[in-house]
Amino acid sequence: MSIEVYQERLFTLQTAHTSYVFCINEQGIAENLYWGKKIQRTEDFADVSTQHVFVNVNGPQSIQEECSSYGSMRYKETSLRLQFFDGVDDFRYRGCEYKIDGNVLEIVLKDIFYSFSVHLFYQVFEEEDIIKKWRVAENTGKEPVILDRIYSGEFGLFGSGYRAINYNGRWGAEFLREEDSITYGKKVYESLYGLSGHTVNPAFIVHRDGTETTGEVYYGVLEYSGDFKTVIEAVNCGYLNILIGINDTDFQWKLAGGESFTTPAVYGGYSDQGFQEMTHCLTRLSRNYLMPKKKANQVLPVLYNSWYATLFDVKCDEQIALARKAADTGVELFVIDDGWFTGRKNDKAGLGDWFVDREKFPQGLEPLIRVVNELGMKFGVWIEPEMVNPDSDLYREHPEWIYCYKNREVLMGRNQYMLDMTNGEVIDYLTQIFHKLLSENKIDYIKWDMNRYAAERGSASLPKEEWQTIAWRNTQGVYTLIERLRSRHPEVEFEACASGGARVDYGAMRYFDEYWPSDNTDPLDRLMIQESYSYLYPVKYMRAWLTDDFGMNRRKIPLAFSMHSAMCGSLGIGVNLNQISEEDKEQIADYVQQYKEVRATIQMGELYRLQSLQDGDLQALCYNDEDRSVLFVFLDHQRYGATCHEVKLRGLCEDALYRYKIEETEAVKSGAYLMQQGILLKLQGDYDSRMIILEKQK
Ligand code: GLA
Repeated sequence: MSIEVYQERLFTLQTAHTSYVFCINEQGIAENLYWGKKIQRTEDFADVSTQHVFVNVNGPQSIQEECSSYGSMRYKETSLRLQFFDGVDDFRYRGCEYKIDGNVLEIVLKDIFYSFSVHLFYQVFEEEDIIKKWRVAENTGKEPVILDRIYSGEFGLFGSGYRAINYNGRWGAEFLREEDSITYGKKVYESLYGLSGHTVNPAFIVHRDGTETTGEVYYGVLEYSGDFKTVIEAVNCGYLNILIGINDTDFQWKLAGGESFTTPAVYGGYSDQGFQEMTHCLTRLSRNYLMPKKKANQVLPVLYNSWYATLFDVKCDEQIALARKAADTGVELFVIDDGWFTGRKNDKAGLGDWFVDREKFPQGLEPLIRVVNELGMKFGVWIEPEMVNPDSDLYREHPEWIYCYKNREVLMGRNQYMLDMTNGEVIDYLTQIFHKLLSENKIDYIKWDMNRYAAERGSASLPKEEWQTIAWRNTQGVYTLIERLRSRHPEVEFEACASGGARVDYGAMRYFDEYWPSDNTDPLDRLMIQESYSYLYPVKYMRAWLTDDFGMNRRKIPLAFSMHSAMCGSLGIGVNLNQISEEDKEQIADYVQQYKEVRATIQMGELYRLQSLQDGDLQALCYNDEDRSVLFVFLDHQRYGATCHEVKLRGLCEDALYRYKIEETEAVKSGAYLMQQGILLKLQGDYDSRMIILEKQK
């Protein structure tokens, strides 16, 4: 049984290797007792309390709670804050009711006076070692209740010595992994950008002595793409409290009598075997439950995107020429990025007018799509649905369709305004316009972009009392639009991009088949970005790129290193193929071929981060499945004449034999040898790399 109840007051959620235990304590409060390695016997917890220190307040400040609420002698960050109609601002419950439905437990906490309850939901993903939590606030009375804060979940960890990992990124530098020890006070990771953003990720990773393969790791990912907040607080009573959910800074929700509000979900897990296990559990969860079903178990095609090659300067003939060359290299999906629609000569005009530019494509997209299909490739386009340029027919017709304040200049980001996605008319219009685009053209793929951060939280379609709901409603509007388009065009592959990686989150995963993790395609920077990305997100979901020399760091990196770096995810090519030598094109074609032979292992296998450039000279990673292991090794700069590097593999079958080739020398070794003794590789100079395929012998 994945959910056990002992004496009507002790609840245990059991996964294959972990237990999560809470009780209704003597004061009638839901108290979290344990989260960690599996303890089978629930009754062992019958006399446990988390009040470990003597304090001068009797309130719940001193215990790890399942649902802390502002007030009632709590001084820590709480997961709920509300106002009843008469000004009372604390929620008090004593005891609970509960229901179990398969692997879902519902705990109902009812206020002792007001007709209001909070429902705590827990769903157990046994094989993935993950627990999903979400909440519903329900106003069963007649008077309104104002919700000022309602996080998705609360996690208490006893003791101290924890370290927290998140990112401190920006455009072109997403997923810069950072780590802090949490010794006192609060650590807050949040987004107010209007989407999950480039900076921090809607997730938490907290560990003690965590390495790739050892140490205790607690983690959680939020299924939400809007403004979020994660608070990790070392509470003065000897425990760490972790809260995650919708950001309360720009959120307030009025619940009229009879209404309820459901939060996004958080998926939490525990590993006693370091970060690698965390990655594997999240990858399994994503594939088995979260990714859109249609493509979850298929490999993604090799993609060509013309952005890096032609920017806005899109011409039908030139795109056809590019498509022919892309097909020669083995590409399977050809995508025109920005610039194909009316008025889009640069980033100052055109967004909103989603009609094919007849100057650039006098006969529409059809001639290009025909050639692309004849060449055996699928076809895709870029769109940015949530945006409008002031210089566009859409804005001239509907200036009221943007977020704004009446008496202030509307702020622009990348010369564009944000469409009011809380307005049903806007969503209906966008649904119809993109439905038409997808119906009239044979489009197999959409790159869905979002290129600016939020500013004004004012809407002509909502009363001002509801403007504090805009951040939340905007995200729901985006989800509605994509859901509608997906249901009408189920075969289309959707990619989430937001100025690179500003929408890489578990909310987006429900609706998109892949992410664009960064606009930075410098192969060395990408190794670090990709490595940190892979902590929380599946490899398959990550488009990785080969492009021309990338201006960001002004360095030249050999093709082999660049290709290998791009082959570590779902491969994309963005080089201007109209301008490269035949020799380079042939080499690219060779790499694409090699990639195709092993991409099932890369995209669907298990990732092992063997060595990191953060710790030494090499990045080494391998992807394993039943048939093989694909090993990539990268050396950025040779130092002090060192030529030989040892790489120990992981995740192989000890007794199985693996056949592989280094340069021209073939070898057959046991899994045990490869994992214990490892292999010696000669890597030299700057930017040297290898891909080694180890085929498991049957
Ligand atoms: C953003 C994206 C890029 C590209 C451009 C097009 O910057 O991140 O990949 O699509 O928009 O304008």
